[in-house]
Amino acid sequence: MPVQNVTVIGLQWGDEGKGKVVDSLARNCRYVVRFCGGANAGHSVNIAGERFAMHLMPCGIFHAGVINVIANGVVVDPAVLLGEIEELTRRGVPVGPANLRISLAAHVVMPYHRQADSLEEQSRGAGKIGTTTRGIGPCYSDKAGRFLAIRVGDLLDDSLLAEKVKRIIEVKNRTFSALYGSAAMDAGQVLAETREFGRKLAPMVCNTGALLRRAIADGERIMFEGGQGTMLDIDHGTYPFVTSSLVSACGVPGGAGVPPKAVGQVVGLVKAYTTRVGAGPFPTEQDNAIGSCIRERGREYGTTTGRPRRCGWLDAFAVRYAVELSGVDELALSLLDVLSGFDELKICTGYRRGGKAVELLDPARMDGVECVYETLPGWSGELDNCRSFGDLPAEARRYVDRIEHLLSRPVGIISVGPQRDQIIIHNTKVVGLS
Ligand code: IMP
Repeated sequence: MPVQNVTVIGLQWGDEGKGKVVDSLARNCRYVVRFCGGANAGHSVNIAGERFAMHLMPCGIFHAGVINVIANGVVVDPAVLLGEIEELTRRGVPVGPANLRISLAAHVVMPYHRQADSLEEQSRGAGKIGTTTRGIGPCYSDKAGRFLAIRVGDLLDDSLLAEKVKRIIEVKNRTFSALYGSAAMDAGQVLAETREFGRKLAPMVCNTGALLRRAIADGERIMFEGGQGTMLDIDHGTYPFVTSSLVSACGVPGGAGVPPKAVGQVVGLVKAYTTRVGAGPFPTEQDNAIGSCIRERGREYGTTTGRPRRCGWLDAFAVRYAVELSGVDELALSLLDVLSGFDELKICTGYRRGGKAVELLDPARMDGVECVYETLPGWSGELDNCRSFGDLPAEARRYVDRIEHLLSRPVGIISVGPQRDQIIIHNTKVVGLS
């Protein structure tokens, strides 16, 4: 039987704890592949009391023998990536061509993309998206526009790069000066810096799509590591309050350069409650003492920007939409430990608008809906030391059972703390865990 790949994606608005689950599953994979987003992501892994926060590096980097891939669908900020490589190497996790490959076709986040992201956000006033200002939207805009784009492969061709940088900086200087009155950038300086980045990354750059397709033919197992969460998907999320790439499992084939069948088993990460950073609709938000309590217990502050996250109850209606979109096979439930201490917990099971039940969820029309909640009893004990489903208090087990029922999918993994071993393997069929 052919090996089954596995895809791990977020089912809410990001920050579902993908880093830890990817790290747990990586030991059974030969490749771990990022296929969307860029340095807007913040994936953290805790190993032996040490915390590693990564933005671009796939979370398979901590396993010997795993080849980590930054595929064509990612936008790569070379300054951030080189910083991560340096930091990991300094902390005893060596990174090089043996364990990291970067796609020739991935697009490069340039300094003017970061600048444009901040300037565009400021100019939006009350209509701000609340982006991470990492240059993600402007870089994907140039990718779609083609004429002003730089790909990782271009960094390896000196004369092509020089021609592109000169031409692009000329256009950007004119645009930035007209729109924002910004000072002109020096093309020579941008070129020198970009060339230097290219020189350092070159040994790791290749056609990663071809590499992965060969791996599939050779029967090697691949994990696709999603960034952000489904409700931030450019096409299927709460548009326009979304990020600029396809972050659901639908983004895997295009973003990694593999056939749709290669997606394999889909594990959907769902936080036991909901959080969101930045603007946009959030029907179950608790902008009150409940939300503050979740924020403090869950340390819900952005890994990338440090911003306090908006917090609220679990929205099973929205998660069900995400489950169906990506064909999720099973769920990984994270941060269940954060909910200890509440007398009761609420789960949103549907929306109503104008007194009528909403039948089909339209994520671009979530503002102003009224949530239908069911209430479950809470539990008081801490869950940090639970290692089997039976160790959980009866009320926590009931909460998990209810999620399985509402989403019609088994909960395969339950995370009860940030450390690697704070995990309960439950109803899983994922190869290597079951
Ligand atoms: P951008 O991706 O920086 O353009 O930001 C667009 C929206 O996506 C903003 O609301 C961000 O807060 C959100 N966002 C982007 N990346 C992440 C992430 O990794 N976790 C949570 N939210 C994110």
